[in-house]
Amino acid sequence: MLLQHSTWPEVEAYLQRSTGIIVPIGSTEQHGPNGLIGTDAMCPETIARGVGEKMDVMVGPTLNIGMAQHHLAFPGTIALRPSTLLALVKDVVLSLTRHGFTHLYFLNGHGGNTETVNAAFAEVHAEAGLGSSGAARGPLRCKLMNWWTTRGIKKLSRQLFGDAEGSHATPSEVSLSFFAHPGSVKHVEMEPRIAPGGGFHDAEDFRRRFPDGRIGSDPSLASIEAGERLYLAAIEDITRDYQAFIAAG
Ligand code: NI
Repeated sequence: MLLQHSTWPEVEAYLQRSTGIIVPIGSTEQHGPNGLIGTDAMCPETIARGVGEKMDVMVGPTLNIGMAQHHLAFPGTIALRPSTLLALVKDVVLSLTRHGFTHLYFLNGHGGNTETVNAAFAEVHAEAGLGSSGAARGPLRCKLMNWWTTRGIKKLSRQLFGDAEGSHATPSEVSLSFFAHPGSVKHVEMEPRIAPGGGFHDAEDFRRRFPDGRIGSDPSLASIEAGERLYLAAIEDITRDYQAFIAAG
């Protein structure tokens, strides 16, 4: 059930049977020579919608711009500063809790968002604890889940791509985005086959170390077929994790 495709009476009726919601959150950033700029938003969005359909769970709008300053040396990247993302997430949480949602499950597609989103949750809880006027009403549970970290997905990624998985512009995420948007599949030759790995500092340093945008990966291995397998595994794992989140009260 998509919030964006619902009416307010439908949302009110949903809240009678459930107070849980999945909010996909991603990023708009370069993903190497064949990866789509929207990859990090598309992946959690497509998984969230799959889980939502299967389970009659409300799925919120995708928050598709995140913390991506380290990708700004590549055209197309749009970044929020941490304070902006924190304010955005906090306001989304407070809006939803105002209507009676109590269990907010943020399904994340971008590692760079993790610390800031968790800081936003901490801000909301702190305000409730300290009694400020914009505080959440009643009990509130927030969880951030990185879709690629479930046991099933990790195992399948290793099986499919082994040491070509890497850590940015991975064949797994590119496959999943191709499965979700088959009209946007790109084929590009890459050299070296597996990109260098390692850390980086700022945007310029990132581009100097990783000139085509990949880190440790070979996303030329990506395919719609692999994306479908990853999608099915993710639906299974995320459904289980969401159910456990709700059942924990
Ligand atoms: Ni990504």
